[in-house]
Amino acid sequence: MTNAITDLRERLAGLTDLGHVAQLLDWDQQTMMPPGGGPARAEAKATIGRIRHELFIADETGRLLQEAGDQCNGASPDSDEVSLVRVVRRRWEKARRVPAELAAEMARAGALGHEAWVLARANRDYESFAPYLERNIQLTRQYIECLPEFDEAYDALLDDYEPGMRAAEVRRIFTELRDELVPLIAAIAATKQVDDSCVHGSFPVAGQRALVAAVLERMSFDRERWRLDEAAHPFATSFGCDDVRLTTRWDETYFPAALYGAMHECGHGLYEAGIARSLQRTPLGHAESLGLHESQSRMWENMVGRSRAFATVLAPLVGEHLGVSATPDTLFRAVNSVAPSFIRVEADEATYGLHIVIRFELEQELIEGRLSVADLPEAWNSRYRDYLGLEVTDPALGVLQDVHWSGGAIGYFPTYALGNLIAGQLWERVHRDIPELDSQIEAGELMGLREWLREHVHRHGAKFAMPELLQRVVGGPIAVGPFIAYLKDKLGDVYDTTL
Ligand code: CO
Repeated sequence: MTNAITDLRERLAGLTDLGHVAQLLDWDQQTMMPPGGGPARAEAKATIGRIRHELFIADETGRLLQEAGDQCNGASPDSDEVSLVRVVRRRWEKARRVPAELAAEMARAGALGHEAWVLARANRDYESFAPYLERNIQLTRQYIECLPEFDEAYDALLDDYEPGMRAAEVRRIFTELRDELVPLIAAIAATKQVDDSCVHGSFPVAGQRALVAAVLERMSFDRERWRLDEAAHPFATSFGCDDVRLTTRWDETYFPAALYGAMHECGHGLYEAGIARSLQRTPLGHAESLGLHESQSRMWENMVGRSRAFATVLAPLVGEHLGVSATPDTLFRAVNSVAPSFIRVEADEATYGLHIVIRFELEQELIEGRLSVADLPEAWNSRYRDYLGLEVTDPALGVLQDVHWSGGAIGYFPTYALGNLIAGQLWERVHRDIPELDSQIEAGELMGLREWLREHVHRHGAKFAMPELLQRVVGGPIAVGPFIAYLKDKLGDVYDTTL
């Protein structure tokens, strides 16, 4: 009798390799490719995507899953083999129900929508983008119709980015989050503002590069296995645990953009680099939950990078490489100032969640047909007025700011805010396990945290869905409380007040 598990792993290894090829095409497009390469690259990506999809949904994959599942009978549910069969079968069953023509049409509409969005954003012209968004929403509704087992339409979308999570739970969590954040932001607005002049100025890229290298080195950036490049929209990707690619962007007038962008992406990279070797070249060898992924990047960026403890490490580095003379206290306050702003990716930790709540509410209304594409800008603007007190006059700073909807990625946004909440829960837990964590960070020793994260989160790869992993690590479901407690404590310190 042949070993079905070996055969399954072999088939999935080939599929994983093809996935890395697709990621490499994408990494190259965003970092190296000259602009003229776009159309040819779109064809190459479509071809690789089609081959992967066909190989994955093939009956042969199902047969191997069935036989491997039978062979696993009696093995521990946490074992690599049982987890592999469980996770891949779930993905296979979902992927099979989506007709290849629909998947192809969604990819094509997404590519066209992306091009239209780039132009529309540059021209501040929502009207030219609206038909493409309309098309993406139509196709998204068709996609949802292929998956009738979900209780509500949005669940089918959210499940692609956050398996195991449901819209009803996100609504409950976000209502609680919004009710905490709105008064917190108002209380901060009523206090004396912090002086953040030390982070604005003129900072040549060479100095910023040296600063970022010094910080990433402390986070265990390994030149034999990692790269850092420049990209317009920073991201991280990896082709297994020994080849991690980070990107950042340099702003010569505001150094936190590159520094915290790099720490953020390095947090994503550490997750991928920490996945067990036994899971490499399998679908479990990449993290799956975007909320968990974002919890890692936000933890390194904000809970470590913007902490009072780490300011002690950062202040001398900023002095050495950028010529900024700021005390750790001044720097700590400057990088944590809170103010409502138009752009999500530049938002501070307190207002960030409201940007996400707004998008989540609008997405549900669009999908359910309660809001038309034509009325979207006004709905967007009125929510920014209500939640953040801002008057949006430029669509590039409003409804056109994010890339996601242009490519058809609807249901993705909630994972960003869930990531912050998960980070809050893990942060509370790791402080119980390592009471001296803050003094370690103050001394520039970050490996205690990295090892804890590797042990409790990273090494499992995609074995466990987010709710299951949280249950194991913090002993309960996703919750708002720890993140809010962290925020009140830190921002109270920043603003010399009790929140
Ligand atoms: Co991220």
